[in-house]
Amino acid sequence: MANIKMINLVMVMTMVVASMEFHGTMARELFVGDSFGWNVPNNQFFFDIWVINQGVKYVNDVLVFNFTTGVHNVAEVSLQAHDACDGSNPIQMYTSGPARVSLNTAGIHCFISTIGSDCKSFMNMIVRVEHRANNSSSMLSH
Ligand SMILES: *[C@@H]1O[C@H](CO)[C@@H](O)[C@H](O)[C@H]1NC(C)=O
Ligand SMILES: *[C@@H]1O[C@H](CO)[C@@H](O)[C@H](O)[C@H]1NC(C)=O
Ligand SMILES: *[C@@H]1O[C@H](CO)[C@@H](O)[C@H](O)[C@H]1NC(C)=O
Repeated sequence: MANIKMINLVMVMTMVVASMEFHGTMARELFVGDSFGWNVPNNQFFFDIWVINQGVKYVNDVLVFNFTTGVHNVAEVSLQAHDACDGSNPIQMYTSGPARVSLNTAGIHCFISTIGSDCKSFMNMIVRVEHRANNSSSMLSH
């Protein structure tokens, strides 16, 4: 009996600690293009402006690319491939919309649609991702 109580207590404490850690590193969902989604924009800076408006992007944030499957797609590519609109050797490919892309590493992440002229029609985006500050003073601010 005592053992079961102890196990339950340990389980509850583990859950509390896990939820505290989750709160400290809460992943955000960022809807690419807001309600416009991941579609051909009518101005070349549309996705650049969207990226700027999101402020700092952190590791574990999730980009949600909303697009019609088969009409557009999302490929994570190198910076070179992004600049050349070259989708032939993607790092990661997402063909079903909406696609959820977790930003797992700090640094530059580049995305394009590889369908037709999408990329040259400004369905391309560079996202800089940063580490969330990992000390207690930054935890308190959340
Ligand atoms: C995704 O796009 C579709 C088609 O435009 C739209 O109906 C749907 O509401 C969008 N979903 C979100 C979460 O914005
Ligand atoms: C905490 O942040 C420091 C400075 O930004 C970094 O050098 C260190 O690797 C980080 N530690 C962890 C566990 O993320
Ligand atoms: C802790 O994080 C705060 C806020 O991000 C930052 O200003 C401070 O320099 C950090 N301290 C250390 C020791 O990393």
